[in-house]
Amino acid sequence: MSDAIGSGRQKIHWARGHMPIQREIATRFREERPLAGHRIGMSLHLEAKTASLAMTLAEGGASLYVIESNPLATQDDVAAALAETEGITVNARRGVSQEEHREHIDALLETRPTLIVEDGGEVVERIAEVGIERFAELKGLSEETTTGVEQLLSLERDGRLPIPAIAVNSARMKHLIDNRYGTGQSTWNAILRATNLLVAGKQVLIIGYGWCGRGLALRAAGLGARVLVTDIDEIAAVEGLMQGYEVVSLSEGMRRADYVITATGQPSAVGRPELEQAKDGVVLANAGHFGFEIDVTELRKMANRETVSRDGVRGFELPDGRTLYLLGEGELVNLSVADGHPVEIMDISFALQALSQEYLAKNADALPAKVHRVPDDIEHHVARLVLSTMSPSFLA
Ligand code: NAI
Repeated sequence: MSDAIGSGRQKIHWARGHMPIQREIATRFREERPLAGHRIGMSLHLEAKTASLAMTLAEGGASLYVIESNPLATQDDVAAALAETEGITVNARRGVSQEEHREHIDALLETRPTLIVEDGGEVVERIAEVGIERFAELKGLSEETTTGVEQLLSLERDGRLPIPAIAVNSARMKHLIDNRYGTGQSTWNAILRATNLLVAGKQVLIIGYGWCGRGLALRAAGLGARVLVTDIDEIAAVEGLMQGYEVVSLSEGMRRADYVITATGQPSAVGRPELEQAKDGVVLANAGHFGFEIDVTELRKMANRETVSRDGVRGFELPDGRTLYLLGEGELVNLSVADGHPVEIMDISFALQALSQEYLAKNADALPAKVHRVPDDIEHHVARLVLSTMSPSFLA
């Protein structure tokens, strides 16, 4: 056994050992085999919790083809260990180019999946481009994140959504918990691990005060930061204000912040004009799905010299003497320089995914090609499972 497989197995073992909901679903799946005969194409951030989800779906009788959903969010040791599982094929590697990622999506579609689990909406977009006629056996998909759900809704609006799709991110048990508390903890974990710098007393700018932004701000305040918030939506800004944060314009925030974190889901939320205003020594991090929120191409053009300061920290030295530090190449920081969300959070989100896949296996033939909610009974079932492990007295 190679070292990589050994460490991958260890990581999966640790994650699965802290995912009681996943284990409970897997036990039932092993008996009932609700996914027997299904070929599931999976495009997710491939680290240990995702491996655990893949194993649960395999226990349900499915065969799986697993690819990455982001260039830097694959852990190669986990990918190697997962590939040892019967019925699971892995085609993912840390550091894939955009072109390789597209090739992996096409390879996934070549396996003629019957169901898809994805994070970011790129697979469904590809199916819409190629034409659903090529995928006669494909029944439906479940989507993990805000950016992917926005993609599904846009395809639905244009009459191009090819299959029924469950918007897992729209479940309250997903975005209220995972986006807020998961991103809050894991992004700060990533920043602290990567930089080893102090947060207390520093100024932190959160760009985008949505579900992720709320968690980022909450945990920044908990670490003793002075929290600045900005958003293009006035209502989100008022909410930040009422929460007790200082709401500022983007340019004022850029001038003052020691840490800048984007969580907008939109390209160039921090563009060249903002980078021109940034303080010497600022730490720039992106928590949004795609690595386009901080304009790294412009940052690169502005710099005289680039240095690797620590693992995952790149310094851009500007002609005027300032150095701006970018974490994880601008890709989503909690996965590119750390291990993603806390295990217990992904136990919840991936329970919704596993049960949504089971629901699609049973019901997709009767569903129109629209965006669907996670059924209420699934959400409440998962909530009860969380409470039964974390607060058992509530259910006593
Ligand atoms: P959301 O829709 O709740 O919030 C986004 C906020 O950004 C909104 O308030 C919007 O008005 C604001 N916004 C949009 N463009 C902006 C701009 N140019 N400048 C300032 N504000 C802007 O979305 P949510 O759930 O917070 O997700 C944000 C991103 O994070 C998405 O790409 C999502 O897929 C991703 N995500 C990442 C996770 C991670 O593990 N890193 C976990 C969950 C979601």
